[in-house]
Amino acid sequence: MRLPFLVATRSIGAVHRLRQSPLLPSPLSALSRLQRFAAVSSQCKDERSYYITTPIFYVNASPHLGHLYSAVIADCFHRFKLLQGFNSKFATGTDEHGLKIQQAAEAAGKDPLTFCTDVSQRFKHLFDSCDVSYTDYIRTPEQRHRRAVEHFWSVLWNNGLICRGHYEGWYSTQDESFLTPLQVGDAVDSSGTPIKVSLESGHKVEWMKEENYVFRLSAFRSQLLNWLRGNPRVIQPECFYQVVLQWLQQDLPDLSVSRQRSRLQWGISVPNDPEQTIYVWLDALVNYLTVAGYPDTHDQWWKVVHHIVGKDILKFHAIYWPAFLLGAGLPLPQTIYVHSHWTAEGKKMSKSVGNVVDPLQRSQMFTTDGMRYFLLRQGVPDSDCDYTDHKVTKLLNAELCDSLGGLLNRCTAPGLNPAQVYPAFCPQSFSRERGGRTVFEDHHMLDAVKNLPAVVERHYENMHLYKALEAIAACVRQTNAFVQRHAPWKLDREDSKDKRWLDTIIHVSFECLRIYGILLQPVVPGISNKLLSRLGVQPDERNWAALNFLPRHQGIDCPLEGRPLGSESGVLFSRLESQNQKPNKAKKGLQKLTKA
Ligand code: MSP
Repeated sequence: MRLPFLVATRSIGAVHRLRQSPLLPSPLSALSRLQRFAAVSSQCKDERSYYITTPIFYVNASPHLGHLYSAVIADCFHRFKLLQGFNSKFATGTDEHGLKIQQAAEAAGKDPLTFCTDVSQRFKHLFDSCDVSYTDYIRTPEQRHRRAVEHFWSVLWNNGLICRGHYEGWYSTQDESFLTPLQVGDAVDSSGTPIKVSLESGHKVEWMKEENYVFRLSAFRSQLLNWLRGNPRVIQPECFYQVVLQWLQQDLPDLSVSRQRSRLQWGISVPNDPEQTIYVWLDALVNYLTVAGYPDTHDQWWKVVHHIVGKDILKFHAIYWPAFLLGAGLPLPQTIYVHSHWTAEGKKMSKSVGNVVDPLQRSQMFTTDGMRYFLLRQGVPDSDCDYTDHKVTKLLNAELCDSLGGLLNRCTAPGLNPAQVYPAFCPQSFSRERGGRTVFEDHHMLDAVKNLPAVVERHYENMHLYKALEAIAACVRQTNAFVQRHAPWKLDREDSKDKRWLDTIIHVSFECLRIYGILLQPVVPGISNKLLSRLGVQPDERNWAALNFLPRHQGIDCPLEGRPLGSESGVLFSRLESQNQKPNKAKKGLQKLTKA
């Protein structure tokens, strides 16, 4: 069996002669100098700036549910940080170079740029429709990106970390990834022909033999290990951190970072060598720097960058990317948040199986907020989740329609709240002392809601978005139980004591709803806006600093007391019909899902 053969040889080209100047440091002394620089710069982080990124999406096919998931997670982080008063930047976009895209454009009979522009716009349209509030949408063919990639390459080259070599081994075009023999297995294609596949992704691999440029990845193994050991929370969840540590226990071969122009024309040329095209992953990863303003003005943002990535692209972000950054003397990412994948009806989503879930169609069916809520409530970062329309309907009806919507509806109903105001709180009624009407469970609920912002904040920070939503949903249930327990509809509005108690029940419930509305903004911005507007909460009263629950219970004034409610009294979230009963659009969607 042939072994992959990757050899770094010294170039005899003009560029290499330039690099041989005795004034330039040796690669290894450059490394330790750069490492020191990286360590120093990561200490001076700007606490009030925040920069979050999604992976940039391949444009070989239309967006699917998994893509929307990556984007919605990042959007949630971005909105959360804005609420906390951070100056937040949020980058997303499309990854348009490389062999895979070149082949897809050829197959579509279009020139690559026209092909890419069309698909890139579909991603953008999806994100705009789903309230993904990116501040920068980057496309790799843009001039600003080309400039950043060329500069980045030249820095690595000048630091002696790239040299000419050749690669002989396996390559997966679908993953745009080089593989060792241990990462490759046997399989058969749809026509029964034996093929080799990547054991990790299942995608077909091909043997390739090429002259190209090689990055000295092997020189970074111990630095990467030190970085990870010194920053145990840098890759989250922890299971993925452990995976990367294990990878680094093994050999770290050098990495080919270019392809021959004759094979790959759709990409950025290696500076000073038009016969070679820069490897698409090196090109793509630099997008994060481009958006930060590299190479001119990236400092502010680069010190506070956090990446969201799917588990399939962990190696590129947790090994290649930090190594490139160390090589270029740049600070390393603050956090790499990893998420698992969505399957559909128990199977990996794929065009050939016919089970690809169209996120745009589903967000029209279940509403944008509904889809966002489902993905973040049901998506667990450390294990794969299965998508079915039935699950979406069940969850959204239970939590958004019945529980949250029902609570708002009950407490704002003219029967209970004829004046349509944020009613007054009566401390004497809300007490277990004489004359008070509360029971133990009421105070238990109060404690839970009072602690909720801290709990949610911790879960948001740790990417446990589902736990944050679970905690909110549990509190909503407690508030519903509180209302149910005291049955305000049975109280006599003509009796002054009863009236004070009735208003107090509604005031407490509104305070709970106000807290839930503020906390839910990063996940369901539309529903939160509706909810907070209905309660009469002004836009400047919706940030993290406004999370002071029930101030009247602590003897502090409540600015909302006596304020008229917002006039928009529509339903918060309309009930979704069961997919099994309704022969409409929703049903068609389900049929499409199960077509395979
Ligand atoms: N272009 C590269 C990323 C380059 S970033 C410098 C790429 N693109 S991708 O379009 O294939 O994937 C983009 C993101 O979507 C990845 O985070 C990937 O994990 C995610 N998902 C792709 N399929 C997915 C699911 N089925 N479920 C959840 N997320 C999935 O990789």
